[in-house]
Amino acid sequence: MSEHERNILVTSALPYANGDLHLGHMVEYLQTDIWVRFQKMRGHRCIFVCATDTHGTPIMLRAQKEGIAPEDLIARVGEVMSKDFSDFLVDFDNFHSTHSQENRELVETMYLRLRDAGHIRSEVIKQAFDEQENMFLPDRFVRGECPRCGAADQYGDSCESCGATYSPGDLKNPVSVLSGTPPSERESEHFFFRLGDFEEMLREWVSSGRLHESVSRKLEEWFDAGLKDWDISRDAPYFGFEIPDQPGKYFYVWLDAPVGYQASFLNLCKRRDDLDFDEFWGRDSKAELYHFIGKDIVYFHSLFWPAVLTGANYRTPTAVFAHGFLTVNGQKMSKSRGTFITARTYLDHLDPEYLRYYYASKLGAGIDDIDLNLEDFTARVNSDLVGKLVNIASRCAGFISKRFDGQLSDELMDPALFAEFTQASEGIAQAYESREFARAMREIMALADKANQFIDTHKPWVMAKDPEQLHAVQAVCTQGLNMFRVLMGFLKPVLPGIAQRAEEFLATGDMNWDSVSSPLLGTKIETFKPLAVRVDPQSVNAMVDASREDLKTSEKTKPMDPIADEIDINTFASVDLRVARIVNAQQVEGAEKLLQLTLDIGGETRNVFAGIKAAYDPETLIGRLTVMVANLKPRKMRFGLSEGMVLAAGPGGADIFILSPDEGAEPGMRIK
Ligand code: MSP
Ligand code: ZN
Repeated sequence: MSEHERNILVTSALPYANGDLHLGHMVEYLQTDIWVRFQKMRGHRCIFVCATDTHGTPIMLRAQKEGIAPEDLIARVGEVMSKDFSDFLVDFDNFHSTHSQENRELVETMYLRLRDAGHIRSEVIKQAFDEQENMFLPDRFVRGECPRCGAADQYGDSCESCGATYSPGDLKNPVSVLSGTPPSERESEHFFFRLGDFEEMLREWVSSGRLHESVSRKLEEWFDAGLKDWDISRDAPYFGFEIPDQPGKYFYVWLDAPVGYQASFLNLCKRRDDLDFDEFWGRDSKAELYHFIGKDIVYFHSLFWPAVLTGANYRTPTAVFAHGFLTVNGQKMSKSRGTFITARTYLDHLDPEYLRYYYASKLGAGIDDIDLNLEDFTARVNSDLVGKLVNIASRCAGFISKRFDGQLSDELMDPALFAEFTQASEGIAQAYESREFARAMREIMALADKANQFIDTHKPWVMAKDPEQLHAVQAVCTQGLNMFRVLMGFLKPVLPGIAQRAEEFLATGDMNWDSVSSPLLGTKIETFKPLAVRVDPQSVNAMVDASREDLKTSEKTKPMDPIADEIDINTFASVDLRVARIVNAQQVEGAEKLLQLTLDIGGETRNVFAGIKAAYDPETLIGRLTVMVANLKPRKMRFGLSEGMVLAAGPGGADIFILSPDEGAEPGMRIK
C-alpha cells in the first residue's frame, strides 16, 4: 500500500424493498457512485456497499396484499433493483440484504452489547391497536383530525397542514388505515435505547466537522429539544428479527437497517481475502467511513447510529453526507404530471449517462434540493456532452485516422495549453473530494470550450486541403485529442461508459486520475465511434407519457359511486374546496360538451375540463371567480390532463350554473 493510499468504506442509504427505484433515489446512488469512482481512480482502496432494507410493517403488508411471502417479495425487488443499479452504472462492491444471516448476527450482537452496558430499558406503553386486523398500528397507519388545527385525515405522527407533531393517541376521531375502524389502545412492553446516555459523545462528534453546516444547524435544534429515548422494539406480527431474549418482540426496522451497512460489508469480507471487518469497524479503525443519505434520514444517521455504534464498542462514521430532494420541473414528483419517473422507465427511453452528467452538473455538498428540469436537461446534455466534449474528439479523430493511418504526432504543438489542462487536475479533484460536483463540471466544461477554440482557430479542415500543411493538421488533431483525453479522464467518474469507449478508441488503456497528465504521443488510435448522441426531446416526452401510463394501468377506473344517504363530517372535510379565478377559458377542439379552463388558486394554476360548453361562452368566464375541488385525483382525458373540477348546479345542457363567490374572496382560499 502506498503512503497516499486511503482505506475508505462508503455506503448509500438502503432502499426499501417494497417499491421501485425512482429518479429521486437515483440522486443519491449516482452521487455516491461518482464519489466512489473518483476515489478509486485516485488509487485509494474504496469499498462501496449497499443492500435492500427489507423489514417493517409496510413490507409485511405489501407481501400480504400480493399474496406472497415477504421473503419472496424482497428477493424479487432486490433483483429488480440490482438490475436498475447496474444499468445506471452504479458499481457497488456489494449489494446485500438486511434479511440476511450476517445482519441477524450483527444486530443481535449490537443489542446484547447495548443491553449489557445498561443502555436499554423497558417500559410498558400504550399503543394504537387494530382489533379487526389484530395488530398494533405504526403511527403512520392511524389517521384522524389534527389535535392542534383540526385538519382532517392527518397521519398519526404529524400534521401536514400545520406541522404539529404528536402521537396517534392525540388525534381526534382516529381510524386505522388498514380496516377503517377506530383503533383501541393496548398496553405492551417496549425496549428503549437510552439516547441521552450519549449526549456528550454526540455533541462532540457532531461538532468535529463531520457534517455540513446546514445539517449541523438542524442537529443543534434537536439537541435543544432534548434527546429522547428511542423505541427499538415492535410487537408481532412484524417482518423482522426477533429479539433474542424477548419472544414475540422484534427489532424495529430502523435498528437493523444501518446495521445492514455492516452486514453487507461482512458478507463481502467473506468473499475477499484482502478485507477485514475489524479493520473498518473496530473501535480503533483507521479506515474512513462515510454514509451518503438524503436529508430526511439525518436523525437516524447522525444521532442514533453514532450512539448505537459507540454503545456497542464500534467506531463512529468519519462523516455523514446528506443531500437534498429531487424536484422535477420545479415541483414535487407527481404521478399525474408524469414526473414520478421510475429508474426503469428512464432507462427504457434515455441513456443513463445523461442523467449522471445532469445530476453531477447540479450537485453540491449541502442539502439544497436539486431540480431536474426536463428542457434544461435536454439542452444541457446536448450542449455540454455532445456539443462541447464529444465534438472535440469527433473533429480531430477523422483526420488522424484517414490521413495518418491513426498515427498521432510525436510532440505536442502547444505544450503550454496542454499544461493548463493538466494543472486543473488538483482543483477538480478537490471539487470531487468535497462533493462540489457542479463546480467540477463547470471547470471541465470551461476547458472544453478552450479546446474547441483551439481547433476553431487552427481549422484543420481548411489546412487539410493544402498538402503543404498536412503535418500541421496532424499536430492540431494530436493536441486536440490529448486535451480531450484529459477531460475524459476528469469526467470518468461521471461518465464511465463514454470514458471506456474513449479509452478504446484512443488505445490508451484504463485511465486513472494521474495517467492523463502525460500526453499520448507517437501512438496509434483506433477508428472513432460516436461516443454519445444527442438527447431526442421526443424520448423525453415519451418517458413522461409512459410515467403517466404507469398510473393508468395501476389504477382501474371505477364507476362513480352513487350519492350516499349520509356522510360524516370527516368525509366532507376531506374535500379540498377552493376559490379559483378563471384566468383563461377556451373551446376544446373535437369536444362536444367541454370547455378548457385555466384556474388560478393562489399562485398555482390548474387545467380543468368542464362540461359547461352549452351554458357559457368562454369569453364571459375569463376573470370570474368560481369554486373548485382542488384535491380531486387528476384524470387523463382524451384532450389532456384535468386537474380538478369546478362546482356547478343544474340539470345539465344549457341549464348549468357555475358557483361564484363574491368578489373579494381571494383565489386559493379554502371553503369551510
Ligand atoms: N430504508 C431507508 C434508509 C435506511 S438506511 C440505513 C430509506 N429508504 S428509501 O428507499 O425511502 O430512500 C433511500 C434513499 O433515497 C434515502 O437516502 C432517501 O433520502 C433518498 N431519496 C428518496 N426519495 C428521494 C428524492 N425524491 N430525492 C432525493 N433523494 C431521495 O429511507
Ligand atoms: Zn394541524
